[in-house]
Amino acid sequence: MLTTPETLLLVGFMGAGKTTVGQEIARQHQARFIDIDSEIERRAGQTIPEIFATQGEAAFRALETQVLDDLQTFNGIVATGGGVIERPENRAILKASPATVIYLHGNLESTINRLLSEGQRPLLQEKSTAEFFQLWQLRDPLYQSVADFTVETVGKTPERLAAEIIALF
Ligand code: S3P
Repeated sequence: MLTTPETLLLVGFMGAGKTTVGQEIARQHQARFIDIDSEIERRAGQTIPEIFATQGEAAFRALETQVLDDLQTFNGIVATGGGVIERPENRAILKASPATVIYLHGNLESTINRLLSEGQRPLLQEKSTAEFFQLWQLRDPLYQSVADFTVETVGKTPERLAAEIIALF
């Protein structure tokens, strides 16, 4: 069972289900939940696409690092954004964190299908499938490098994934 206070940081590519699974774990265990993208939007008073469009990706990444850094004392479940892994300083925070880092690992096909049904990702609009695949290949080892555990997501419901993650403890 989840020991208290146990903090979980969920990492993985866009569309891996970090937010849905994180909310499900929090619901089942009456834990606090925070989504870094939502926190960025709250602080900026803009949606993620608006931040990308008006301030640019670099400004978004700076906000993301700030929120990640501020969450170092947070107790509960944290869903990160897929790109959090790209900055070395973010990887250093994730590696040094006493929280357990879980990599939600899917496959490219199911991820793209999910993203297309959801919309709202500026990087999805900008990139071709080939570029998207390159991004996937770039990030996969980076997620692995910070993860305490990797959980396969393909074909599993959020409830099942939440149960699998809890069973790790
Ligand atoms: C991004 C992933 C998004 C969001 C932003 C950039 C990325 O979060 O932070 O659109 O670079 O992969 P999700 O992983 O929750 O989609």
